[in-house]
Amino acid sequence: MEIKSAEFVISNTDLSKCPTGNMPEYAFIGRSNVGKSSLINMLTNRRGLAMTSATPGKTMLINHFLINNNWYLVDLPGYGYAKRGQKGQEQIKQIIENYILEREQMTNLFLLIDSRLEPQKIDLEFMEWLGENGIPFSIVFTKADKLKSGKLRSQINAYLHALKEQWEELPPYFVSSAEDRTGRDEILKYIEDINKEINS
Ligand code: GTP
Ligand code: MG
Repeated sequence: MEIKSAEFVISNTDLSKCPTGNMPEYAFIGRSNVGKSSLINMLTNRRGLAMTSATPGKTMLINHFLINNNWYLVDLPGYGYAKRGQKGQEQIKQIIENYILEREQMTNLFLLIDSRLEPQKIDLEFMEWLGENGIPFSIVFTKADKLKSGKLRSQINAYLHALKEQWEELPPYFVSSAEDRTGRDEILKYIEDINKEINS
C-alpha cells in the first residue's frame, strides 16, 4: 500500500477527545523504548511524525495520525518504565487499558517485542490480559537490524515456542527494523487487507 498522506491529528489522554467517526485504527503498544514511535515513522516514511527518544518514557499520550485520509495509526505510551514510579506507571496503565478496552474503532493492536530479549514476564502477562479481554492483536519483533540473521531467527523461534505453551493458536507476527525498513511491506499489506475486509 502506498502512503500518500500522513498527518498528526491530536494527542490526549481522554478517550472522548479522540477523533470521532468510524475510520479503522491500528495502535502500537509495548514496553517503553521498544520502538513504537520509530515504527510509525518507518511505516509512514515520515521521520519526525511520531516523537522518538533514546531514553524510555517519551510517548505519554494517545497520538492519532491520519493516513491517506482513510484510517489511523495510533501511537500509545509504553508500559513498564520503572523510573516513572508507581503512581506514574499506574496512570499510564490506566490510559492504555482504557483505550484498548473502550476504543471501538481500534481494529488491531500491534504488540511490539524487542527481538533481542528473552520472553519478558510483563509482555506475557500483557498478552494474557489481551486474550482475556478478546482484543485482536499481532506481534511485531522490533530492532531486527541489531541481530545477525541466524541469531534473529533463533530468538524468534524461541519466543514463538514459549508462546505455544500459553496459546493454542499463535497471533500473526512480523519482524521489523526502523533502521533498514524490514517488515514495512508486510505490515502495510496486513493493514490494507483488514481495511479492505472492513469496506467490503
Ligand atoms: P516510548 O515512547 O518511550 O514508549 O518508546 P517507543 O517504544 O516509542 O520507542 P522509540 O520509537 O522512541 O525508540 C526508542 C529507541 O530505540 C530510539 O533510540 C530509537 O532510535 C531506537 N530504535 C527504535 N526502533 C529501532 C530499530 O528498529 N532499530 C534500531 N537499531 N533502533 C531502533
Ligand atoms: Mg514512543
